[in-house]
Amino acid sequence: MKAMVVAGARPNFMKVAPILRALAAAGEEGILVHTGQHYDPQMSDAFFRDLGLPEPAYHLGIGSGTHAQQTARVMEAFEPILVDNRPDWVVVVGDVNSTLACALVTAKLKPELGSGVAHVEAGLRSGDWRMPEEINRVLTDRVSDLLLTPSRDAHPNLLAEGIPADRIVFVGNVMIDTLLAQLSVAQQLDMPGRLGVRPNEFALVTLHRPSNVDDPTALRAVLEALVEIATRMPVVLPLHPRTRKNADDFGMAELLARLHATEPVGYTEMLSLTSSAAVVLTDSGGLQEETTVLGVPCVTLREQTERPITLSEGTNRMAPWPLTTVGVRTAFDEALSDGRVGVGERVPEGWDGRAAERVVAALQNGPCSDPSSRVHRA
Ligand code: UD1
Repeated sequence: MKAMVVAGARPNFMKVAPILRALAAAGEEGILVHTGQHYDPQMSDAFFRDLGLPEPAYHLGIGSGTHAQQTARVMEAFEPILVDNRPDWVVVVGDVNSTLACALVTAKLKPELGSGVAHVEAGLRSGDWRMPEEINRVLTDRVSDLLLTPSRDAHPNLLAEGIPADRIVFVGNVMIDTLLAQLSVAQQLDMPGRLGVRPNEFALVTLHRPSNVDDPTALRAVLEALVEIATRMPVVLPLHPRTRKNADDFGMAELLARLHATEPVGYTEMLSLTSSAAVVLTDSGGLQEETTVLGVPCVTLREQTERPITLSEGTNRMAPWPLTTVGVRTAFDEALSDGRVGVGERVPEGWDGRAAERVVAALQNGPCSDPSSRVHRA
């Protein structure tokens, strides 16, 4: 079985790493394609280094652009590679523009090539169509032959959209495979010490969603809340390039100066910080899951989450929406008083470090192994 595995942006790299390893361990062929959606050394190379990822077989180098430009460039660059390789599967992960672009190319060529689309992290839904990721999730799932879910709550979402049950396979959370494999290395790094803060006595923040950082009012409300929190404990804020640029453009650099704002950090450095934070405040999807496994209280700075299992079976809570300075501060206080629980004490099913093995088993058994299923059934 030959699987072409696609990664494009920062949150993809920790998901493809265990899948490539599990393919190799099972004696199957894995071909890594990096679209180049993220390209800064700290957004990409640092993750390849930390995660022991192989050099991609193909690097499409597509870079930044509007959603249409980015998606179109990936599609154009990916198509000839797919035609040349004719893999059994194209494995796409998560919900970024590269995910949808490669899924769409593969689905269109399926009658000719027979390659199936397998979507890892299928079935998550925020219900918010203003988020580009929600569009990417729904459309990727719609054109996928094999929908590999990270948690059981994804299944009713897919069934409600008319996806046949026999295409849906529960595999668990591949990102947690990486977290559990890297945790002891991360803890030895002592990133808090390097930044001059004490373990369990700092807040860790990430902020990059357009809804939070492209709107000056929203960005100011959050940054002012963080400045207030910083009077009580240090606030560490590794900055996405988008956030840094907007804070500068909106004249908010002086708010950032009162926080421990840093350049983006690599995977292991981030895990070192997350595992020793008193509270995490974030608009990332992955961090909601990572804090759940690590037992660290998390405040999600969004209107809704596509990962509700982290609310019901984890350490996550939503900040009141719309975000205000007082709302964020209050949610932080509540999270702080919740306190931490032990690593792995309360985790959703299948977040056990073995999800990638189940991905590979599903690819080996999947609908594409049956030639008759190579005709699109929808
Ligand atoms: C993308 C994903 C988002 C994910 C996030 C993680 C989509 C629709 N969004 O958002 O789901 O949570 O990645 O980071 O795919 N930039 C750099 N260097 C880089 C990459 C980006 O400076 O290496 C800057 C550029 O100004 C670029 C901007 O960041 O225009 C946005 O990058 P883009 O890839 O379009 O989306 P993200 O906001 O990173």
